[in-house]
Amino acid sequence: MTEKEFIPASYTALNDEGIVAYCSPSNIALIKYWGKRENQIPANPSISFTLDACSTTTRVHYKKRIHKNDEFSFDLFFEGEAKEEFQPKIKTFLKRIEKYMPFLKDYHFVINTSNTFPHSSGIASSASGMSALALCFMEMERGFDKNITLEYFNQKASFLSRLGSGSACRSIQGPLVQWGESDAVEGSSNLFGIKYPYEVHPIFNNYHDTILLVDKGEKQVSSTVGHDLMHGHPFASNRFKQADTNVEKLKIVFSKGNLDEFINIVESEALTLHAMMMTSNPYFILMKPNTLSIINSIWKFREESKTHVCFTLDAGANVHVLYPENEKDIVFPFIKDKLISFCQNGQYICDRIGLGAKKL
Ligand code: DP6
Repeated sequence: MTEKEFIPASYTALNDEGIVAYCSPSNIALIKYWGKRENQIPANPSISFTLDACSTTTRVHYKKRIHKNDEFSFDLFFEGEAKEEFQPKIKTFLKRIEKYMPFLKDYHFVINTSNTFPHSSGIASSASGMSALALCFMEMERGFDKNITLEYFNQKASFLSRLGSGSACRSIQGPLVQWGESDAVEGSSNLFGIKYPYEVHPIFNNYHDTILLVDKGEKQVSSTVGHDLMHGHPFASNRFKQADTNVEKLKIVFSKGNLDEFINIVESEALTLHAMMMTSNPYFILMKPNTLSIINSIWKFREESKTHVCFTLDAGANVHVLYPENEKDIVFPFIKDKLISFCQNGQYICDRIGLGAKKL
């Protein structure tokens, strides 16, 4: 598949007006995407669990414009309120995808969007938000071209999401998605995420992710800046090789269900991500003291309880606590008793592995 195949030749009919709506989840990377080339091409492959509870619902009302000009035309409402500050991000997204969705300037859009998780929770909404919007535009396109297959729909929805935010391309399907080429995984692509193509051991069914909200403040360093700092980073090439190797290792783990090895890869990936931040120049730290307290408590409890609870981190201070369904009766009480006190205002979100976006 090449990028050109996402440029449509022509449409059979363009509706004058309609409504499209999607609910799209967030995702949590097990193997991290950190470092990219131009046009959101990742420097290494990444693999994620699609989440279930943390999601964005987006409804787009589209109407043919009478006086078309060279600008995009849209109104944006977030949780029922007009949001001027989100406009530039959407405009940039529309500009990036226009080549692949040539009808965008023909319409005025009213975009209504809302998240299931609190806005200022420090949970990145770009993955669920960008993928939900991309899916709405894909649904429009499917209305204009009845020959679009489900495979093409999913690939292009992921491709467009990627242009909004890299990690968003992993939110279309579930429960496991790989984005970025690797020899170990057939069909993997730098252009879009694919549903993990191999059989996965049942121990990963219904895997839990309890998200501990340690710090809800604005990040001091955005992901975009962080990715950029991987250019010229002294450890970048070794890091990218390590991610390739981890994809191979995880392939065996997924088939055999070896949770000790799973934990080793996932926690190492999380700490490596933050090590890359700490060894960038300028350097920065996104973890907070409570992030470390949680990690130490998890290690201690794991040793004592002989369970398989582990953690991962995204680009922030929050901690994702991962554990299998058959250990939830031991692990969840531990989280409630020992870890919630490290969360800002005691806030946490109970999530689990999910199956991907849903059309509404
Ligand atoms: C640490 O997808 O937010 O969460 O492509 O610039 O929008 P942009 O970055 P973004 O980066 C997320 C990085 C990460 C790891 C991951 O999700 O793989």
